[in-house]
Amino acid sequence: MITVKTEKDLAKMREACRIVKEVHLYVEQFVKAGVSTAELDRKAEEFILKNGAKPNFKNYHGYPATACISVNDVVVHGIPSEKIILQEGDIVSIDLGAEYQGFHGDAARTHGVGKISAERQRLIDKTRESFFEGIKNARAGRRLGDISHSIQAYVEKNGYSVVRALVGHGIGRKLHEDPSVPNFGAAGQGVLLKAGYTLAIEPMVNAGAFGVKFESDGWTCRTVDGSDSAHYENTILVTGGEPQILTL
Ligand code: MF3
Ligand code: CO
Repeated sequence: MITVKTEKDLAKMREACRIVKEVHLYVEQFVKAGVSTAELDRKAEEFILKNGAKPNFKNYHGYPATACISVNDVVVHGIPSEKIILQEGDIVSIDLGAEYQGFHGDAARTHGVGKISAERQRLIDKTRESFFEGIKNARAGRRLGDISHSIQAYVEKNGYSVVRALVGHGIGRKLHEDPSVPNFGAAGQGVLLKAGYTLAIEPMVNAGAFGVKFESDGWTCRTVDGSDSAHYENTILVTGGEPQILTL
């Protein structure tokens, strides 16, 4: 079931999403060579709690941390660790969310660590741009497949691939609600979008092939071919006109 959010719901959701946006801006300053991903996770958790919200990934299906922090060929769901130390030239995706008064926000960003190669910068840029291509279709009266297709087309046109094994999602009173929001598919297909739908749109883009594998920790997801991967996500609100990006 896809829920239409009321203005009252949206007031809380906007606040959850504002906090998520702020956490990203706060944590980003600590992304430097020599920092562990566990340290970044602590900064994120502190900030969320200080803002009167809860880290909504923690304990979600047993997930052990506040953020998913994924370096280079890790696509998503990297578990923060004292042993994973950022190195100059790495790319690091930080995915995190917050729950505020019963509503959720979710967003991801990919950053370069220090000076990164032009190839890696291009992957980060095209991944972010594919999100903006997608939300051009996040309007009442369009179909979900219009979003999915425009993301896929943009990514593939630029020589990359979109991950198939994981998708975006509806969001609201739960972190993951209907509908699934794939980053691939056919235009004109799928759910008819309505004003008041809130979606987490999150392209996961591999520099090489789309295949991924999960590690024995049950979470860490890597590219099968060892190529780099980037992730970009925002929580958005579908309206009759321009979509609103709640986490930006
Ligand atoms: N950020 C993921 C998403 O966008 C959720 C991570 S799974 C969790 O849907 F267990 F870490 F929460
Ligand atoms: Co998400």
